[in-house]
Parts: sequence; structure tokens; C-alpha cells
Amino acid sequence: CGIVGYIGNEEAVPVLMNGLAKLEYRGYDSAGISVYNDGICTIKSKGRLSMLSDKIHGEGVVSSHIGIGHTRWATHGAPSDRNSHPHNSQSGKISVVHNGIIENYMDLKAFLEEKGYRFASETDTEVVAQLFDFYYDGDAVGTLRRVIGKIRGAYALAIMCNDHPDSLVAVRKDSPLLVGLGHDGNYIASDIPALLEYTRDYYLLNENEIVFLKKEGVTLYDLDGNQIHKDVFHVTWDIDAAEKGGYDYFMMKEIMEQPQALKKTVFPRLTERGISLEALSLTEEEIKNFNRIHIVACGSAWHAGIVGRYVMEEINRIPVEVDIASEFRYRNPILSKNDLCIIISQSGETADTLAALREAKKQGVKVLSIVNVVGSSIARESDDVLYTWAGPEIAVATTKGYTTQLSMLYLVALYFAKVRGSVDEMRFQEYLRELRLLPQKTEDILKLDGKMAELAKRYAHCEDVFIIGRGLDYAAAMEASLKLKEISYIHSEAYAAGELKHGTISLIEEGTLVIAIATQERLFEKLVSNVKEVKARGANVIAITTKGGKDMEAVADEVIYLPKVADIFTSSFNVLPMQLFAYYTAVERGCDVDKPRNLAKSVTVE
Ligand code: G6P
Repeated sequence: CGIVGYIGNEEAVPVLMNGLAKLEYRGYDSAGISVYNDGICTIKSKGRLSMLSDKIHGEGVVSSHIGIGHTRWATHGAPSDRNSHPHNSQSGKISVVHNGIIENYMDLKAFLEEKGYRFASETDTEVVAQLFDFYYDGDAVGTLRRVIGKIRGAYALAIMCNDHPDSLVAVRKDSPLLVGLGHDGNYIASDIPALLEYTRDYYLLNENEIVFLKKEGVTLYDLDGNQIHKDVFHVTWDIDAAEKGGYDYFMMKEIMEQPQALKKTVFPRLTERGISLEALSLTEEEIKNFNRIHIVACGSAWHAGIVGRYVMEEINRIPVEVDIASEFRYRNPILSKNDLCIIISQSGETADTLAALREAKKQGVKVLSIVNVVGSSIARESDDVLYTWAGPEIAVATTKGYTTQLSMLYLVALYFAKVRGSVDEMRFQEYLRELRLLPQKTEDILKLDGKMAELAKRYAHCEDVFIIGRGLDYAAAMEASLKLKEISYIHSEAYAAGELKHGTISLIEEGTLVIAIATQERLFEKLVSNVKEVKARGANVIAITTKGGKDMEAVADEVIYLPKVADIFTSSFNVLPMQLFAYYTAVERGCDVDKPRNLAKSVTVE
């Protein structure tokens, strides 16, 4: 979900709606706003933001200088007008927007119902509005402190009170929220792009820091009610970075930004003959003594982790385990003193990933995180953070987020290799040379744009696609398959090519599309055999291989050639044509590429 709030000299409705438009990628089941004009006025609607906008204009835009807004990704309660935020107390005096989950809302609801409160929705959030109303004594900060004492779970909350239309209160715990400091007013929002057109100055909030927002200024309090002071966080990136810039969809813009993003991530960290990472708290001694590395993440970041495992095991000779964060956090993982936990997250806010990080820290293991969003929760709670400088990523399906994560993993693996002496100097220099070429080669591969559009046209009608590969190509197949599923809604499975014959091959029939990724030199022949197996059962095969892999032409229907590169870097290349293929397939099928159904970019609930 996304939250925005404003108080100042401007008209609030357009400020809120602009902010919500930028936040819509965080959820788009429903949206709503509360503003003030002789009383709290709440307008909300199921569906996309455009439906809310129609409703607001239909009813006549209310003039107001304060307001809160919300765009929802449903958890408790189906998407409906009634379950949309903001939620107001029964008295109509309090209005609340919330991102997160209040775990004990049933108990609180029972308690409030006993006190005579009647509920209008099925959401956990309404409980906060009613509870706030119950405790409210005219002191919003004090009341919020009491409410925080009662609720359990994750929350970013922004609250407006009828009798104080000159202030807002807000707080966050395990869900993102920050404060924007303007000249004519002040803001709160779930992330920076929502506010970038208004301000570059922010306060980043720690857990349970309470915000008292007025037009004239912002005061921050801790849970005990003591005032706290913090430095202003100044954003330097360009506003254009969060706009579509002429492309039909953010996803295509972000695909095309990959060469640039890779340059920003990799080049500053390459020295003439080595790698320099920003000051790490990890000592050389610790790096030398690692027994095991645990990589933990969700979604595409998890796929990046799988690539990371192959690469690190290959060049560091350390056993690496890769876990899905929601599994890791609950399976009582075995971690020991000389282990390292690497957390990967584009947003730095994914709830399961954050919980996994905390689990690792609780067990006394050092955490190194690879994160894109500066100042995000994961970045702040890690012992060390390495930023992927991909810039804001808006499309739900990640592209530049993923490929910059890969490049960061290479840098970490090579850095460790140098310290541990696990790669000889000649090979190390060879890897560095190839790493330098990554952005240029990425740019060259993206010229396959037209070719992939043509293939997508031809195969967009398919309902099942199998993507096969071995080793790193299998890792890439998993990411490729997720891309296809996420945005084109085609059922797709990634399969380790050698495993196909143990069951899945029974699904191959006349005309089934199989995409075979074969960029690992030493496994190339094996893949050619796998392609023969599926061809014999009637499959249509698109093969992705490297220059020189001529044997593939004899067996596959289509062959896409990529430039040659050291095996450990192939995942950065073979995913690119697949991003394009997924994109064009989704366009062909008339899907909303940037905002696929049922998904959200940043999942800040468990
Ligand atoms: C969501 C997105 C995925 C993403 C995953 C992890 O599910 O839809 O595309 O890979 O979260 O996000 P993170 O921000 O932690 O990388």
C-alpha cells in the first residue's frame, strides 16, 4: 500500500492525487483521500486511481489545505469501496490511512464493540481509527502513543482529527514512511518519488518515531513523548528518473536504463587493478574465516541470490545457501558464528526480507545487504549495505533492479575472492576486464528489441511455456519464467534441463513453446540434447545461446545469439532477451505491463 499526507498553503486534493499516482505501483486495488473543509470529508473508491479521480470530480473537488491519501493492496477485506482507506471512526472525528497489518485487531475490535463502537468495514485499519477515537483527549501525539501501546503488527499510519485541522500525526513500524519538508507546507509519504516534485529534503523515520506535522514545521517524538532531532536527508537524483520519459511503460524505460544503471553500480567500485567497496564493517579476518554464506530474499531478488550462489561457490569455494525470506524466517535456520547473511532487496522494505534480516541478527550473524532504495529499513538495519545505483524502479516487474543486484553480487564475490586468495591473479584481472564491459554489452544485447517483439507476436497466444537451462542458465530461466508469469499471465515453468525427463516432459506436446537457455560453454552440448528431446515431442523451441553455438541452429526453430562472456557473468546477459520477450508478450496480450493484476511492487506486509 501507499500513503501520502499533506498540510500547507497549496490545495490538498491535487497534491494528494499526484502523490498517489506515484505510489500506485505499491497497490492499486482501491484508493481514497480524506481532506478537511468544515469537517472531515472522505472519498474513496474500489479500483484504479482514475476511478477515485472521477468520483472526486463527480462530487465536486473540495477545497482544503490538509489531507491524507491511500492506495491499497488488499490484505484484510476484499477490495471494495467500503474496505478502501481512509477509515474513519464511527463518530466521524478521526480519519486514518494505514499500510501494514494490525495483528491483534480482532481482540481490539471485540474490546471496542463492547464499548459500543460499531464497525463499517472488515479491515484491521478501522480498529485504529476507532481506538484512536476512544482514547482521544485533544492531544493527538499523546493519543497516538497510547494507541501504539495497544496495537501489534506492522504499520505506517497517518491520522487526521476533526477538531485540529491544522495538524496531522503519523508513525511507522515495519512499514515505510518518511517526512518531506517543503517551503509552504510539509508532507509524509511511503517513499520519495511520491514527493519529489515538491521537495528534496526528507526526514527518514526510525521505528515508532512519531511525527507531528504542521504547515509551519515538523516535530518528532519518541515513544516516551520526548522530542527528537534528526538530520535532513537531501535527495540528489533527478526528478526525470521517476517519470516515463517518452516510453509507453516504465518497464521498457527501466529495461533500457540497464546499461546506465550498471555503469553507476559497477564503475565507481572498480579501481585500476581491484575492487573497492564502500567502508565495510566486515574485516579481512572475518571474510577469510567465513564458513558459509546465507543469501535471503524474495521474488526476483531471490533469483539474483540463486545466481549469487553459483558465482560465489565457483570463485570463493564457500558453501552458499539461498533461501526465500518467508521460509527462512520461520524454519529456525541453523546459523553459526562464522557465517555471513546476505540480504537482497530492491525496495529495502519487503516485510519478509526484513524479518529474515532480524532473525539473522538475532542469531548473532553479520548481515550485508544489497539494496536499491537509500535509507530504506533493510539498509538501515544491516551491518553493511551496498547500494545498487539503479535509480527508482516503478514497474512492478523488476528489470534494472535485478541486473544491478547481479552485478553487485559479482563485485562482492570478487572482492571476497581477492581477500581469501581463492582466484589467481590472472583470472581475477580477466574477470575485472569483463565486468567493465558489462554495460556496453548490455546495451548491444538490448538491440534485440525488434527481434524479441517479433517473436512475442508469434508466440503471444501460448498458454504454457517451459524455460529450461542448466546451472546459471537454470537460474536465469527462473527469473525469465517469473517475468512472463507476472506481466503476461502466461503459465510458465522454469526447469533444470536435465530434470525434464523425470516428469515434466510429459507435458510437452505438439506446438508447446520451450525456451532453452544455453550460454554455459561446458554445458552447451547437454542443452542441445535436451532441445532434441523436446523437439522430438513436437515442441517449438527458441534457443538463447552465445556466438559460436552453431549446433543449436540445426535443432531449434529460432536461435538468439548473445556475446561471449565468462561463464560466471552469463546471467546478466541471458535475462535481457527474456525481459524483452515478456514485455512484448504482455503488450500483445493487452496486459497492463507496469501494474499487473494482484501484484504490488513493494510488499510491506507478511
Ligand atoms: C514483490 C515484487 C517482486 C519483487 C519482490 C521482492 O513481490 O512484485 O517483483 O522481486 O517483491 O522485492 P524487493 O523490493 O525486496 O526486491
